[in-house]
Amino acid sequence: MEIKVKEILSTVLYPGFQKDIVTFDFVKDIKVDNDDVYITIDITSSSDEVLKMLQDEIKSKLKSANFGEIYLSVNRPKAPKETSSKGKNIAPQIGNFLMISSGKGGVGKSTTSVNLAIALAMQGKKVGLLDADIYGPNIPRMMGLQNQKPEIVGNSVLPLKAYGVEVMSMGLLLEEGQSLIWRGAMIMKAVEQFLRDISWSQLDVLIIDMPPGTGDAQLTLAQSVPVTCGVTVTTPQEVSLDDSRRSLDMFQKLHIPIAGVIENMSGFICPGCNTEYDIFGKDTSKKIAHEFNCEVLANIPIEPDIRVGGDSGKPVTYFNPNSQTAKRYMMAAEKIWKKIEQINIEGGVTNELIQPTTPAGVSACSTGATQKSSHGSHGGGCGCGH
Ligand SMILES: Nc1ncnc2c1ncn2[C@@H]1O[C@H](COP(=O)(O)OP(=O)(O)OP(=O)(O)O)[C@@H](O)[C@H]1O
Ligand SMILES: [Mg+2]
Repeated sequence: MEIKVKEILSTVLYPGFQKDIVTFDFVKDIKVDNDDVYITIDITSSSDEVLKMLQDEIKSKLKSANFGEIYLSVNRPKAPKETSSKGKNIAPQIGNFLMISSGKGGVGKSTTSVNLAIALAMQGKKVGLLDADIYGPNIPRMMGLQNQKPEIVGNSVLPLKAYGVEVMSMGLLLEEGQSLIWRGAMIMKAVEQFLRDISWSQLDVLIIDMPPGTGDAQLTLAQSVPVTCGVTVTTPQEVSLDDSRRSLDMFQKLHIPIAGVIENMSGFICPGCNTEYDIFGKDTSKKIAHEFNCEVLANIPIEPDIRVGGDSGKPVTYFNPNSQTAKRYMMAAEKIWKKIEQINIEGGVTNELIQPTTPAGVSACSTGATQKSSHGSHGGGCGCGH
């Protein structure tokens, strides 16, 4: 009888996903007594709506298979703590903002952003993913959304949804292959519009995939919303670490707490013979994590599946959750969420100290302005010290 119940539960899809609750390993116990069924499930969502949908479907499917009373015991995570951050926030319905940065291009920021977003969604958080890389928006392809166009309602744009994550990108708003030449003021406008004019839901966290480097987009974002914390993605070779130091230093200048470093392309395990090769080196980012008093959240090896998943819009964390890599992304996501909770418990963050003192639309960082402030220190007036 228990087997029959399990078979029926394997037809119940988890809301928002194409996967059933048995495959997700959410069903913890099944007992059948006479015709009555006792089921224990763990779900990762704290949303009442998700719970109700699941309860209704489970009950109606078991009833139609002629079972008697259905007793469902559901373990749910605690509702996420609201943000306690202060300062300017042009997207106040979003609880927390997580900035994914790197000192240089091509190290795996977008790949990391996609997989962390999916991992957090699978852990029951309401997650948005903003592709703020206006120069090279790759998120639509990586999330399997490149041919879709977002719907416009009144003055705002609805984010698309994939793998349980809300998504927006300049790549979804431009025609394929089209590019724009961005100047400082335009970048600021674009970043602001992504936060203000996109109808994000009440998200627990918005993950923001930044363009490489430490420029106008990073500064504008940090001035527009209180960024809860930042993650720097790096590869293990020394030249990359030098750039990552700049990225971590930027977080400090913008008063953004550092959640940690992700060491990507960290070794290569040959799928044929399981031998491990250190192509770019391995474990070298511990040193900079130590310098900036944070931890290495994960070492992600070079893995063909990651690249294939990115190119084909089938992220490894979703499509191959039992892989080593997916588990590492899941673990990193847990660590980041703990850090976010801790930051909120300790009073949250504020961006009051980095508000612009230059006229709107002029980035002191991009123009290289260095007026002397009334305190006699040099800087562009934005607080970032450049
Ligand atoms: N661990 C990995 N194993 C294999 N391939 C990877 C890994 N991480 C990233 N890649 C691949 O490397 C390429 C660059 O990654 P990605 O686009 O995420 O980097 P990025 O830092 O966002 O780049 P950019 O600075 O151009 O935005 C992609 O093709 C991606 O699929
Ligand atoms: Mg990218």
